Amino acid sequence: MTAITHIKSAAQVVTMRVAGSAPKRGKAMSDIGVIEKGSVVLIGERIAFVGSDNDAAAFLESVKGEVYTIDASGKVAAPGLVDPHTHLVYAGTREKEFELRLQGVKYIDILKKGGGILSSTRSTRAASLEHLIEQGYARLDRFLLHGVTTIEAKSGYGLTVQDEIKQLEAARRLNEIHPVDVVSTFMGAHAIPDEYKDNPDEFVNLIIERMIPLVAARKLAEFCDVFCEEGVFTVEQSRKILQAGQAFGLTAKIHADEIVQTGGAELAAEVGAVSAEHLLQVSNAGIQALASSNTIAVLLPATALFLMEKPARARKMIEEGVAVALSTDCNPGSSPTQSMPFVMNIACLSMRMTPAEVLTAATINAAHAINRADQIGSIEVGKKADLVLFDAPNYQTLQYNFAVNLVDTVIKNGEIVAQGGVIIANRRKASD
Ligand code: NIG
Ligand code: FE
Repeated sequence: MTAITHIKSAAQVVTMRVAGSAPKRGKAMSDIGVIEKGSVVLIGERIAFVGSDNDAAAFLESVKGEVYTIDASGKVAAPGLVDPHTHLVYAGTREKEFELRLQGVKYIDILKKGGGILSSTRSTRAASLEHLIEQGYARLDRFLLHGVTTIEAKSGYGLTVQDEIKQLEAARRLNEIHPVDVVSTFMGAHAIPDEYKDNPDEFVNLIIERMIPLVAARKLAEFCDVFCEEGVFTVEQSRKILQAGQAFGLTAKIHADEIVQTGGAELAAEVGAVSAEHLLQVSNAGIQALASSNTIAVLLPATALFLMEKPARARKMIEEGVAVALSTDCNPGSSPTQSMPFVMNIACLSMRMTPAEVLTAATINAAHAINRADQIGSIEVGKKADLVLFDAPNYQTLQYNFAVNLVDTVIKNGEIVAQGGVIIANRRKASD
């Protein structure tokens, strides 16, 4: 029997409903489709109805079968949060570097001395597939408890053919066994490994000639990302890698203009990347290029905070018509967090995004940044039944009552997978 769930009497249902299939820009980022005293009906893994309690009663009369009711009074119902930029799979931690950075040592200087990403690369290379899966699983549990139902996950701590594949295989397995959906990105171009430091172009060739074809042949990733940054990959190298990925069906993403202004945003628009990420140093021309493209700006304010840098110019981007999304950037160096709600809080406080804008950025626009907006990111009939109930009387309170976890219930594919801070999912997906 197909399960029928009626979420009723929510203080607010924040639908994020969209007109058409484009991401939200400008003023539309504030149009989040709130229904007061609302209902959502889920049939099987899909959303079957969204509207008022009264209309829901009429709808349910037309439905046959037993209805399980969730009383959502006093709560906000929102789409499951989407995190479109994580480095989920890695081994080892870097708390000593954190202390060094607090004393004033720069993130990029730690990397140049063989620490940073290269330190996580050493631990990840040394780790077994099972260990990576176990570590990733624990992180996914924390994402879920913070209301996230889909994340993107990048490789990039292997930096050899076999270790990149190992990371992507861990992500694939995690997608199979954990309730949170994991969408994979190949990011062999995350750093130049020690063994190629005197010959970075040879590493670029390894990525293009061996890694990308293998990743594509094994269908291990949908996206290809590059850390386009001074001292890491140049704009020219990044273009070559992204175009090679595109030739093998991998959609481009870019870590752009994070530490130094390199023109990464312009490159993202030029190659038709689905997203440009970080953008702390993006130029006005870069913002214009994004505004007139389909590329989503994925902003990572927790990373800026953790690196003690000025955040991205979100207000300017929104005013110029850039489609903005938010993400944790979960990784062991520049953002060791699994809390999208906290990222949303920081986005308000450090970038002056509004409570409505951050919800758009963490749901429908984030879904666009991983090419999933037709399935997730809003509460609309036909979409996946991925929802969160927050313990809050209105959506503003999600940002006002900050740095606490207000997630009450998480529903994934129509089933309650977490409630009251406890994961209650049958941990394997039905397909297993
Ligand atoms: O998105 N900027 C490059 N990559 C990651 C950091 C990875 C790390 O420090 O391990 C980021 O911030
Ligand atoms: Fe990142």
